[in-house]
Amino acid sequence: MKKWKVFVTRRVPKPGLDLLEKECEIEVNPYDRVLTKEEIIRGIKGKGGLLCLLTDKIDKDILDTEPKLKMIANYAVGYENIDVKYATEKGIPVSNTPGVLTDTTADMAWALLFSTARRIVEGDKFTREGKFKGWGPTLMLGQDITGKTLGVVGAGRIGTAFALKSKGFGMKVLYCDVKRNEKIEKELGAKKVSLEELLKESDFVSLHVPLLSSTKHLIGEKELKIMKKTAVLINTSRGPIIDEKALVKALKEKWIFGAGLDVYENEPNLEEGLIEIDNVVLQPHLASAGIETRTKMAIMAAENLIAGLKGKIPSNCVNPGIF
Ligand code: GLV
Ligand code: GLV
Repeated sequence: MKKWKVFVTRRVPKPGLDLLEKECEIEVNPYDRVLTKEEIIRGIKGKGGLLCLLTDKIDKDILDTEPKLKMIANYAVGYENIDVKYATEKGIPVSNTPGVLTDTTADMAWALLFSTARRIVEGDKFTREGKFKGWGPTLMLGQDITGKTLGVVGAGRIGTAFALKSKGFGMKVLYCDVKRNEKIEKELGAKKVSLEELLKESDFVSLHVPLLSSTKHLIGEKELKIMKKTAVLINTSRGPIIDEKALVKALKEKWIFGAGLDVYENEPNLEEGLIEIDNVVLQPHLASAGIETRTKMAIMAAENLIAGLKGKIPSNCVNPGIF
């Protein structure tokens, strides 16, 4: 008999499951959908390990279900879905999957920046609908990118990778963060400014902060009004960083040129009116969805889970203080 029992809340790429299966008895959500709270509670009964997703809310009730629960590995870099404070009180280590998805996520922010600024999705739709009747001097004009000012809100791993990729476009880079980022200052001449100055000066604003009580609605009506009328806003971080109601208003009334969104305030629900707007590009939370990246995330989550079950500190523990 294998030593540990593990519950996996959704089928993740096979190499991760294979790794777990070598050492643990695993039970995987058989459906291709998010489980309900009751289903998760049923699933973790008798289990020592939990591999969960950002779509699973791991709250006190779930954490109190199984006294044998010894380790939780989140298949995501963000972990605001887990009550880490309570898990810590109970002595349960929690891990995430940082690093392996940094470039893939930064790439998606660029993809959204280009598709919004150059109206690629609108253009595709227009062409498919048979509306393309020949080249036009003022047909579907967008925003120029090369040489413009890039505003990076949150210069952690992903924000840094996003900023560094601007090198080929000769952009002026502004950033705001609680900490100074010497790497982008040195490599790009990036300047640390206040959020207000960044919003006022940037042609493109991309969000890369974690979701905390201090970052919720960081971008609301006031901030959207400070931005340039020609500016583009990109969000690949977490939906609640933007007040989505205010954003719908800003896009409808053209306070800014457009927005590229990978995440939403009440995922998977969208704010009323958002899908009727042309100057917004909408992605279904795909920023880390590279084939290789998702495989690496699965392996990383499995390795973290196994380490925790063995009583070792997982490489990506977010509450290492308990050891
Ligand atoms: C994805 O959104 C993640 O946090 O990994
Ligand atoms: C996430 O990995 C970040 O630090 O930006």
